[in-house]
Formats: sequence, structure tokens, C-alpha cells
Amino acid sequence: MRLEPALFSFSNPDLFVDPYPVYREIRENEPIHRSFMYGGSWVLFSHEDSARLLCDPRLTNNRAGLPLLALGEDERAEFTEFHRFLRTWTAFFEGEDHLLRRGVLDQVFRVLTPDLVSEVVRHAADRLIDGWGDRSQVDLVADFARPLPAMVLTRLMGAPESDHKFLDHWADDLAYLFGASTLTPDDLRRGWASAQAFMAYLKNLATDMARLPERSLLAGLLARTVSGFGFTEAEACAQCVLLMFAGLEPSRHLIGNAILALHSFPDQRRLLADNPRLWPSAVEEFLRYDPPVQYIGRLAAESFTYRGHRIEKGEAVLPFPGSANRDPKQFPDPDVLDIQRHGRHLAMGTGVHRCVGAGMVRVQTAVALRTLLTRIPDLEVCPDRKPVWHSYSGFHGLASLPVSV
Ligand code: HEM
Repeated sequence: MRLEPALFSFSNPDLFVDPYPVYREIRENEPIHRSFMYGGSWVLFSHEDSARLLCDPRLTNNRAGLPLLALGEDERAEFTEFHRFLRTWTAFFEGEDHLLRRGVLDQVFRVLTPDLVSEVVRHAADRLIDGWGDRSQVDLVADFARPLPAMVLTRLMGAPESDHKFLDHWADDLAYLFGASTLTPDDLRRGWASAQAFMAYLKNLATDMARLPERSLLAGLLARTVSGFGFTEAEACAQCVLLMFAGLEPSRHLIGNAILALHSFPDQRRLLADNPRLWPSAVEEFLRYDPPVQYIGRLAAESFTYRGHRIEKGEAVLPFPGSANRDPKQFPDPDVLDIQRHGRHLAMGTGVHRCVGAGMVRVQTAVALRTLLTRIPDLEVCPDRKPVWHSYSGFHGLASLPVSV
């Protein structure tokens, strides 16, 4: 069957609201889909292809130049320094260079024990809920899901929680460059200005190591070495910018999407309330059912043929957790939320570039949602006010979700 070209297009509003029926149709008919994205790319809709190619060394994650590709060639020269900065992010390295940097990041994350993360998250969640006073309705996104991860990550980074609004704002300007469907030179100017402001802030924080909490990401990044490799001060600060950029947006979408999923499946909400031991598997299921990161970007490092398709060097290849996680070959009844389900979802990627914050964010999500639903057991999504979805191509997440409290 020939697919309607408008089906998988950013002009199709369904892609931002409920993309899963669209994915199903493409997965059943053209699981390796030639798409308009990035001027012609390969989108992988099945779980098998996504999982396999995420681990294929013929694809590279060296995508620091991706935002610049959205501009005309004559507009790019202005952003050479910005490009050089993005190239210092661990995520964009490959091979041995990636392993060394990733080794340090993994070590640094080990200091964020579940107890420490739980305490910081509970404190942030309580403060936000206390701030609602006697309101009977709040916006779950603006009043909880959005600020919470910024408050938590700001503290875990080693900065005062009250500064979270600046850090959040700078990280947002950068996230926009990798998530929006179109970009202008002004978007890049804003992103670069925010990256510079963020770096100046972190360098200032780093000058007084003695005041940095010992168990903080910045202190760890400045001090740790693995196999003789350690970051310079500028590189350590740049990794903190990367962590904020990579961590905030999906973390807040996961909280919002999870509340909406529990609203759609009230039996699962009751099951969870009666069996708190199910929280860890519930978080896995939230990640599978409605993953905040819908696709992962890769570029072909060489030309090769995959299942009869000729992929040329430099072309974008996009494994799609959004579709892979609903692949019935991997998950029976994939459109049903089942918090007791087991299986290997791809919401956090797989292979050497898998999410570095995965452990921390699992604890964060469980503690934040549990605190919320324990303190406000009768929290309900307002039936008369529709949720509003973001129109970012890379993420599936809510811009607003009115709830009665
Ligand atoms: C629900 C929340 C999150 C989701 C769904 C998520 C998802 C992902 C995905 C899909 C990848 C790409 C894997 C790949 O390229 O193969 C990734 C990578 C990454 N994530 Fe997350 N993430 C989340 C939270 C976080 C947090 C909280 C942090 C940091 C504090 C973080 C830091 C990173 C970094 C640095 C990478 C790049 C790793 C590398 O290339 O070696 N993420 N994440």
C-alpha cells in the first residue's frame, strides 16, 4: 500500500497530539521509511531495526552540526564558535574518545545515590505542592512537571536551587535547536547567547570548589579521571550544560505523560495505589507507553545497504522509540498501559550512547509522582479543559495539563 505523503509530515497535527496510530500505519506498511526530515532521512519504525541500528558502528552520533544544517550555507559562518562548543559535548564523540568521556560521566553519576536523589526530589515536590495553597485547580505542567526537574538538577549540579529559573531558561534555548522542526539564524543566536551565559555561570561556580557540594555533578566532573582522562574546567562546565540540555525536557514530559496515562487507565492507577512496590515497573511502562523522546538522531558514517535500502554517507537515520515501543512484535497489546509488563523498551536508547541519566531519572519520576499522588490522592485531569501538546518534532510531551487538586 502506498502511504499518503501528508501522513508523516509536521503539517499533520496528529503527530504532536496522538502520533501512535500514524506510526502503526507506517510500521505496518513501510517500516524503513524514507522521510522528508533533515532533507531526506531514513526513519526506523520497527523495534528490531531501531534496536539493531542504535548499536551499529556504521552510524555516528556526531551531530553537533545538525542545527547549522537548517540554515543556508552563507548563514553558517557566524556560528563557527558555537559549533566548536557543541563539539565538546560527550554525546557527540564516538569510539575511544566517547568511551573515555562517558566513563567519567558514568562515574560522576554514581555519586547520585537513590537516597540522595530521593531526598532532593521529595524536597522539590513538597515545595511546589505547598506553593499551591488552597487552589482547587493547577496546571500540572507549569506548576509541577516543568519546574521540578530543573530544581532537582540545579541542586544536583551543585548550584543553589533558587537559580533553577536561569538554568532552565538557558537549557530550553539549546533544547529548541535540536527539537524544533524549523530554525532561523535568530534561534541559533539565542541558543549561543544562552550557552555562553550558562558557561559563565558555571565557571563562576567552579572557581570556588570548596563551596561546591562534594556529591554534586560539577564537583565530580572537575575532579574525576578515568584511565588518566579528565575534563578541563571549560569541558567540565560544557558537560553540565549538556546534562541540563539533555535532561530537563524529557524528564518533565515523562511526568506529564505518566499522569495522563494513569488518567486513561484508571485500573492501573488503582493497582499502583494498592501496590507501591510496583512503582519501578510502572515508571518503565510510562517510558514505554508514551516516551518523551520520540526519535534518536544518527548520521551514516559510511554508505551501506540495510535490508535492501541504500543509505548514503551523511544521511540521517532515525531510530524511533515512539514507534518501536508500540511494536506488537515486541509488546503484546502495545496500546494498553500495563504497569506489570516486562520488556526492553528503547525510550532511553541502547548501546554506548544510552541515556547517562537513566538511573537518576527513574528515581526522580517515581518519587515525584508518588509524592504527588500520595499527597493529593483525588487529583484528576479536568474533563472540561483539553491538554495542550508541544509541537516539537523530537519530543512527545504536554505544554499544559489542567488538573483539579
Ligand atoms: C525521562 C527522561 C529522559 C529520557 C526519556 C532520556 C532519553 C535519552 C535518549 C533516548 C538518549 C539517546 C541515546 C542515544 O543516542 O542512543 C539519551 C542520551 C543522553 N541523556 Fe537522557 N533521557 C532522559 C533524562 C536524562 C537526564 C535526567 C540526563 C542528565 C541529567 C540525561 C542525559 C543524557 C545524556 C548526556 C545523553 C547522551 C549520552 C551519550 O551520548 O553517551 N538524560 N537520553
